[in-house]
Amino acid sequence: MNPAPRQIGEFTDWESRYQSQPVSQLPWFTTEPDRDLLTTLEGRGIDGGRFLDLGTGPGTQAAWLAQRGFRVTGSDLSATAIAAAGDYCRERGVEVALVVDDILASTLSGPFDWIFDRGCFHVLPPESRARYVRIVHGLLDPGGLLLLKCFHVKETLMEGGPYRFAPEDVEAIFSSHFRVLESRETRFEGTLDHQPVALFTLLQPLDSGS
Ligand SMILES: C[S@@+](CC[C@H](N)C(=O)[O-])C[C@H]1O[C@@H](n2cnc3c(N)ncnc32)[C@H](O)[C@@H]1O
Repeated sequence: MNPAPRQIGEFTDWESRYQSQPVSQLPWFTTEPDRDLLTTLEGRGIDGGRFLDLGTGPGTQAAWLAQRGFRVTGSDLSATAIAAAGDYCRERGVEVALVVDDILASTLSGPFDWIFDRGCFHVLPPESRARYVRIVHGLLDPGGLLLLKCFHVKETLMEGGPYRFAPEDVEAIFSSHFRVLESRETRFEGTLDHQPVALFTLLQPLDSGS
């Protein structure tokens, strides 16, 4: 497995991060649907069901999913992020169940058909990854899918920031509870001039995780 690069301190205090600036200025903010989310939904004909936008942040992806007809829950560790996501959804007249929740001690009740993680897993401390895998597996319907987007090991322009992953890293971390269906190199859209190199992985839950 690739050595994990340094994680910058500001990525550990999410509440302060959201209190320090408007969400529209955050690097990951985009009002456009995530390109890999869109490709997956269209490519697989997914057009309904219960969606969890895990680590929803400003709620832009959750709102877009609700507009598209999904029943959506957006969860985040930060209460300020959840409040901003509430404003964003209200302004667009869409209904999303927004919940303050730490995925590593989650009180969410599934099952969800689809879980989208755009940038949450890759900020978690390495020692909590196995716990994340077990909890997310428990929240997913057995016929569901996890759509996971994180920084790719090829992202070298940005100093610090989230952990980076190679396809084989994700496969190894998730293999106890998930099978990799697709894995591709892509980009993170947002407010930065440079779009960081990303890894998108589609994971299918195994029947019985160990
Ligand atoms: C890079 S941001 C991405 C936000 C959003 N998914 C997006 O694409 O706009 C990562 C998000 O994960 C949230 N987060 C970090 N650790 C978390 C945890 N343990 N449980 C739930 N959310 C967490 C942060 O508060 C932050 O909103």
